[in-house]
Amino acid sequence: MTATYQILNDENKIVSFQPKDTFLNDIYEGLSKLPKSIPSQYFYDKKGSDIFTKITKLEEYYLPKASLEILDTHKDEIAKLMKDEPFRLIELGAGDGKRTKILLECFFQKKSNFTYVPIDISEAAMSGLIKLVENNFPLLNTKGLVTEYFEGIRWLEKENYRKNFVLFMGSNIGNFNKAEEIKFLTSLKESLNKDDFVLIGFDLKKDIALINNAYNDSKGITKEFNLNLLRRINDELGGDFNLNDFDFYASYNPLIGSVESYLISLKDQNIYIKELDKTFNFKKWEPIFTEHSFKYSEEDIKLLAYKTGYKIEKQFYDSKHFFTQSIWKV
Ligand SMILES: C[S@@+](CC[C@H](N)C(=O)[O-])C[C@H]1O[C@@H](n2cnc3c(N)ncnc32)[C@H](O)[C@@H]1O
Repeated sequence: MTATYQILNDENKIVSFQPKDTFLNDIYEGLSKLPKSIPSQYFYDKKGSDIFTKITKLEEYYLPKASLEILDTHKDEIAKLMKDEPFRLIELGAGDGKRTKILLECFFQKKSNFTYVPIDISEAAMSGLIKLVENNFPLLNTKGLVTEYFEGIRWLEKENYRKNFVLFMGSNIGNFNKAEEIKFLTSLKESLNKDDFVLIGFDLKKDIALINNAYNDSKGITKEFNLNLLRRINDELGGDFNLNDFDFYASYNPLIGSVESYLISLKDQNIYIKELDKTFNFKKWEPIFTEHSFKYSEEDIKLLAYKTGYKIEKQFYDSKHFFTQSIWKV
């Protein structure tokens, strides 16, 4: 596969490694099948990453608060897992790094010898994160990689280090379907070394009304986040979506344990996408699937670790038991 490789900042701290035309190909594939779908990784262009930051501040969206509380309470125990040896702190889907900052501070105070390697598909999120690191930890050795998780994992294999600590926070794992989840965790394990650690954030199963509320916020920000996918197709691929002709629908499906998110066509319509030179037909009330957000029970987590060959080392919870940061050993 051809890829574009670019160094994005003066100090050589951000490298972008993007396979070519993946957005175009994935949109073609996703809108050609039934039911239609758009992969959730495309939420995160500059505008999408900014909207996601607004979501993290919503009262209803309990995930970042719970995640932050756990890190704040247990940071010392987490940092203690790494002994005095040099290591690489790799973060997958790092986002704005607001929560990671707590751990970076802690490792820094412990005078740990580490390199920070955040990996995120969003160039905008990575630029913000690298600024945050430069402002707060100017001496920290950092290399940000703008790419998709799997490309990032392949890159990790090439740059083999003896000791790694991987962060996969914010319940990003819940966005995979069950086959992708196994494939992801297995590939990750293969690229790591024995006794490396992986910290995974899992959103726990809980009162369904609370979950549904988190994805149906009163300000409509999550709707804006989903509609941004269509705006992105218009801007980057020459689509002619009218955003007012689509609505947003998200609901928890207890049979599979996931909040399923959709854009819904409000009328029969034809949408032309210039870069594909193709017209896509949408029926009135037809859905476009946009995202899974899986929720987990204790048993789900244990089974997943067992199936993918990791050992659960420690598990930390917030005071409301909404979320867990689970630390797995390779
Ligand atoms: C839900 S946000 C969570 C951010 C952060 N971990 C937190 O806890 O707030 C997901 C982040 O992962 C990135 N992301 C989503 N899918 C990705 C993929 N397939 N490969 C790489 N990054 C991805 C997005 O750009 C975004 O910054």
